[in-house]
Amino acid sequence: MNCAIIGCGRIAPIHADALRQTPIAKLIACADIHLHTAEAFAAQYAIKPYTDYKVMIQEIQPEVIHICTPHHLHVEMAEYALCRGIHVLMEKPAAISRAGFLTLINAEQISKARIGICFQNRYNASIQRLKELIENQEAGAVLGARCVLTWQRDVDYYSDDWHGKQATEGGGVLMNQAIHTMDLLVHLLGAPCEVQAAMHNRHLQGVIEVEDTLEAYIRFGQSPALFYASLAYCTDAPVLLEVVCEKATYQLQGEQLTIISAKGQPITTDYTVRLENGMSYWGTSHRLLIQDFYRALNEGTPFPITPSSIIDTMNLVYGCYDSARSGKPIELKDRMEPS
Ligand SMILES: NC(=O)c1ccc[n+]([C@@H]2O[C@H](COP(=O)([O-])OP(=O)(O)OC[C@H]3O[C@@H](n4cnc5c(N)ncnc54)[C@H](O)[C@@H]3O)[C@@H](O)[C@H]2O)c1
Repeated sequence: MNCAIIGCGRIAPIHADALRQTPIAKLIACADIHLHTAEAFAAQYAIKPYTDYKVMIQEIQPEVIHICTPHHLHVEMAEYALCRGIHVLMEKPAAISRAGFLTLINAEQISKARIGICFQNRYNASIQRLKELIENQEAGAVLGARCVLTWQRDVDYYSDDWHGKQATEGGGVLMNQAIHTMDLLVHLLGAPCEVQAAMHNRHLQGVIEVEDTLEAYIRFGQSPALFYASLAYCTDAPVLLEVVCEKATYQLQGEQLTIISAKGQPITTDYTVRLENGMSYWGTSHRLLIQDFYRALNEGTPFPITPSSIIDTMNLVYGCYDSARSGKPIELKDRMEPS
């Protein structure tokens, strides 16, 4: 299947390298508004460069496009391709606003083409094992959970033209980095029903408009989840995701899963995969997700991470921001309407 990448920045090589390892995919072109960026990327992968993605689509008629552009461009690019029957694999976040997300869901529903979202951490072996343990109720019902993400992003990270701005990044630590962890929480625990959140700018006041720190109290039925994410730390610490069940506690620290039960010693299994490329905090599962997307296209079988399948995650993300801005708890039921 002929495919093309839009946006030739930091994440694009991860997609291109994964495509090289996907026999049914053939990367033939790329587009970036900066000619030199498109040309350098094209030279690296022996493909054709463009500066206008619409011209690229018209000329090469790809079957699949990969959207690797800044957040505010995701919805319009996905809609443009889906309307033309072109499959879309897009980077997170699916959309920076509820209205944009609804546009995407609508485009997904009326298009004959398919769309997938890069929440690649769902493919981590550690998460798949944890999900299995929770779903099989190996340690009884879930009583609660907590997530802690403490990473470092400095002035340099925000020196480009889109990070740190509400209009283009759409939010800070939650919309960009911790959205993966929030998605995993929903993936493991199901739909949340209420959230209370607060956000701050702890270390980059005057540099960025968006939050560098966000904390939330989320209710999944009667079970509370505490969520803390901050980019004001001194390093990128492994993310902690803990789920407490009736008979055991599951602690995921990075890719190490520890099972702590009343009887016996804690048992730790290390699911860490050697990093082929990219940053350690992106994880190692992009290739697995991309290959699964092409397998699903080829076989005509469902792909699990689509706009309509991540409504609960996005509802929670938008709910966190609504709550942080209003200072009020937000009920999440039926809130997927434009605001
Ligand atoms: N899944 C993950 O773990 C992960 C990791 C990193 C980045 N991302 C996501 O990937 C996307 C890109 O992030 P990045 O770090 O590569 O950003 P980046 O700034 O390095 O790259 C974005 C590229 O898009 C280009 N661009 C901007 N407007 C364009 C347009 N109209 N047409 C074509 N190209 C355009 C820019 O020139 C730039 O080269 C973001 O959505 C980000 O959240 C995901």
